[in-house]
Amino acid sequence: MVSTASTLAPAPKARAEAKAPLAYAWSPALEKEMAPLYARVKNVITPMEWPYYAPLIKSINELKAQRDAVILAHNYMTPEIFHCVSDFRGDSLQLAKEAARVDAKVIVQAGVHFMAETSKLLSPEKTVLIPDMRAGCSLASSITPEDVRMLREAYPGVPIVTYVNTSAAVKAECDITCTSANAVKVVESLGAPRVLCIPDQYLAKWVQSQTKVEVIAWKGACEVHERFTGEELERMRADEPGLKIIAHPECPPDVIAAADFTGSTSGMIKWVKDSHPRKVMLVTECSMASNVAVEAPDVEFIRPCNLCPHMKRISLENIYDSLVHLRHEVTVDPDVAVRARRAVERMVNLTN
Ligand code: 13P
Ligand code: SF4
Repeated sequence: MVSTASTLAPAPKARAEAKAPLAYAWSPALEKEMAPLYARVKNVITPMEWPYYAPLIKSINELKAQRDAVILAHNYMTPEIFHCVSDFRGDSLQLAKEAARVDAKVIVQAGVHFMAETSKLLSPEKTVLIPDMRAGCSLASSITPEDVRMLREAYPGVPIVTYVNTSAAVKAECDITCTSANAVKVVESLGAPRVLCIPDQYLAKWVQSQTKVEVIAWKGACEVHERFTGEELERMRADEPGLKIIAHPECPPDVIAAADFTGSTSGMIKWVKDSHPRKVMLVTECSMASNVAVEAPDVEFIRPCNLCPHMKRISLENIYDSLVHLRHEVTVDPDVAVRARRAVERMVNLTN
């Protein structure tokens, strides 16, 4: 059984930092009303945490309707966000597509800043909010627009594919975006013998292992996935007979070589649901195992995993404050947006 989310839950002091008073307090009536929802998540949220989360969840869900808002939650959100307040859940590609389709005035991005920017690019008329502006990404901060211009000069005529984990300003300098779910397809769609694939060196190496196109990499890395090692995985296999190991392509090559399957976060979830392994280790961010465990209660999830400090900046408290105050709004400079949108839409059209 997956360990509970208690280690990931915001400390009680975090509630004290929330600026707006809640519309609801814990009471026997609220406990009864929320019982069906709790029954769904009880394996990953402890009975001690629930009286703290339930009033926030009820308040957020009510406020969403008043604000004509939807919450888009990445697979790395903690279970009380992922399962209890989000309207759409998924990997970067699914969230980008949802942002383009969604019919609401306000989008709250329960994810990191580049995801909110992508939503704004695809829904320029909507108000896009992120509950904490500091929710960044080590990949997005590994490359600047100047770096991309330098690459264009160094590799004339070579198309540039950028992972969506980059700023809008970087996307604006590139030909097309990709996510880990479609990187190989995007690279091959360009019909070029050589392609620059930035900024994740490990995603680029993984793409290279799947295609004949020559892939040129940048030096960026995800601070969460680069910490796993192949040696650690082999030790886990020896300790846990019958263990299946599945990894995200942001992991180093020795980790991918030691894994039974490699795929995007949604690819990993699909693999667990389709294969029903008895025991599995998800080589990725911690919260994903808790989220999948809700839908695959018969599977045993073996840690370790690593936390993404950026994703973990998002909490029920700051989502609530974000809806109350309609903050923090994510905007993109119009000149940048035109060019960045072209790169994102080219990817979305390819995968539709
Ligand atoms: P996915 O596109 O696979 O959801 O990955 C996004 C991410 O940030 C992984 O670290
Ligand atoms: Fe960025 Fe890695 Fe966190 Fe994903 S897990 S948001 S790639 S730092």
